Amino acid sequence: MQAFYTLATEDYRQLAVARDWASDLRTYAVDGRVRVLDVACGSGKFPTALLAAGLPAEPTIEVDLLDPSAFSIAEARAVLAPPFVAAGEHEVFLQDFDAPGVYDVAWATHALYAVPPAQLADGVSKMVAALRPGGFGAVAQAGTRSHYLAFYEAYRATFAPDVTPYTDAEGVADALRGAGARTDVQEIHYRTGSADRGVVEGFLQRCAFDDTVPLERMEAEGPMAVYLQGCRRADGSYEFVHEAHLITWVHA
Ligand SMILES: C[S@@+](CC[C@H](N)C(=O)[O-])C[C@H]1O[C@@H](n2cnc3c(N)ncnc32)[C@H](O)[C@@H]1O
Repeated sequence: MQAFYTLATEDYRQLAVARDWASDLRTYAVDGRVRVLDVACGSGKFPTALLAAGLPAEPTIEVDLLDPSAFSIAEARAVLAPPFVAAGEHEVFLQDFDAPGVYDVAWATHALYAVPPAQLADGVSKMVAALRPGGFGAVAQAGTRSHYLAFYEAYRATFAPDVTPYTDAEGVADALRGAGARTDVQEIHYRTGSADRGVVEGFLQRCAFDDTVPLERMEAEGPMAVYLQGCRRADGSYEFVHEAHLITWVHA
């Protein structure tokens, strides 16, 4: 996991500086507080990145953490520092969450990859419905050309043809529009990389949720070898190309 976040921390840093979140939180606050739903909160890397980028002391950001993993909720809660305040906890899948009209802001940051395509519309509609009228929604997700998606397609084709594909940003945006959200999309382009083969191996294994395939096999077999060849610099180190889509909307 540490190897993964050696590179993936950049995903959240890029997101935190991609727009004026402090202004958003101020805009959607009511009476000095803003109620936020953090969908698929993971280990709280996004609030961590917002804190590192700098947030004013007000408004108070009351965060409800949603994740099917109790471990993730505990990890995310542990990183919350003022102006964040831990509020509710929801140990559920997004598809099973039902809290219409409750939140000023709902975000899901690099969070929806594992929602199966067949359940995406249902899950996304729960997120849209959780916003109060005039509330603000944001989803950050890699597009199909981006490393996480391109890598996982190569992984599926080479090692695991039966696994469910990752959900991509284009699919999320379609699902959001299907749920009635009038979306704007901002593309964020950046690169991450490392010359440390241990870090690269750990990062890629986590991208696939499979630590049984060593880097040497990835570099040698099928479509995965072709994909990774395209990620090699002349000196043999790796560089991964990212295209994150930041999808936002204001709830009608
Ligand atoms: C990469 S993490 C998200 C990282 C997080 N946004 C952050 O700031 O650290 C993905 C999370 O999605 C959760 N998850 C998987 N399927 C889900 C679903 N159907 N509904 C909600 N969360 C889900 C996982 O338990 C995991 O914690």
